Amino acid sequence: MEKLYIGTNWKMHKSIKEGREYTQKLKEMARNKNERMQLFIIPPYTSLSILREEMDSSILLGAQNMHWEDEGPFTGEISPSMLKEIGIDLVELGHSERRQYYNENNVDLNKKVHAALDKEIIPLLCIGEKLEDKELGVSEESLSVQLKICLNNISTTQIKNVLIAYEPVWAIGAGGTEASTNYVHKMHDHIRKVLLEIFGDNGYDIPILFGGSVNRGNAIEYLTGQNVNGLFIGRSAWDLEKFEPILNDIEQFLQQK
Ligand code: PGA
Repeated sequence: MEKLYIGTNWKMHKSIKEGREYTQKLKEMARNKNERMQLFIIPPYTSLSILREEMDSSILLGAQNMHWEDEGPFTGEISPSMLKEIGIDLVELGHSERRQYYNENNVDLNKKVHAALDKEIIPLLCIGEKLEDKELGVSEESLSVQLKICLNNISTTQIKNVLIAYEPVWAIGAGGTEASTNYVHKMHDHIRKVLLEIFGDNGYDIPILFGGSVNRGNAIEYLTGQNVNGLFIGRSAWDLEKFEPILNDIEQFLQQK
């Protein structure tokens, strides 16, 4: 796969002012980047409109969640057409924090993936096994179930517009443990196998990103995996002083490839 997707979800961080400053600097940094590196940022809803106005199409702009219905009595929710109206490019679906704290489940995520594709918004579907799955030796089974339900009834044409983020739940956030490179590569290979099983050869076209405690020390190692097509970074990307060296390393990695 030609492209590497490199991006960050800001979670519930950054005011509008902070978000604008970050984005201005990132745009500068990205000016001469390798064309094979596709950057994306996923700010909180409150920053989306203003950042859309200030950003060109070189960095993809995403939302952190959305409902599957277009309108209705769903207090606190944001619909696909509302996001489309702002002009966002992608939507993150099923982050483990959403699954854990807001009871997101695979069946509802499947509706969200369909809704995003119907509106031509790229779904960035997050999957990952919990620590107990890993300890019981059923990580691969857990990933298969999540993929098969979340991608149920997606056509082979539509699947080309989907991104997958593999994020082991136990590796995410400040309390997370870094996953070993071997483990990450093995899980990505498994995910590719399941995608090929479901979508035939079209499964080769689906980018699989890795996320969970990615930092400068492990980023390039993770990217050496045949089926690792990008990185989804939290804490190490929120501060551009930390993110810039990672981007420079990836730039070099791409030049050597
Ligand atoms: P982290 O977050 O890089 O801070 O572990 C990753 C994520 O939640 O996507």
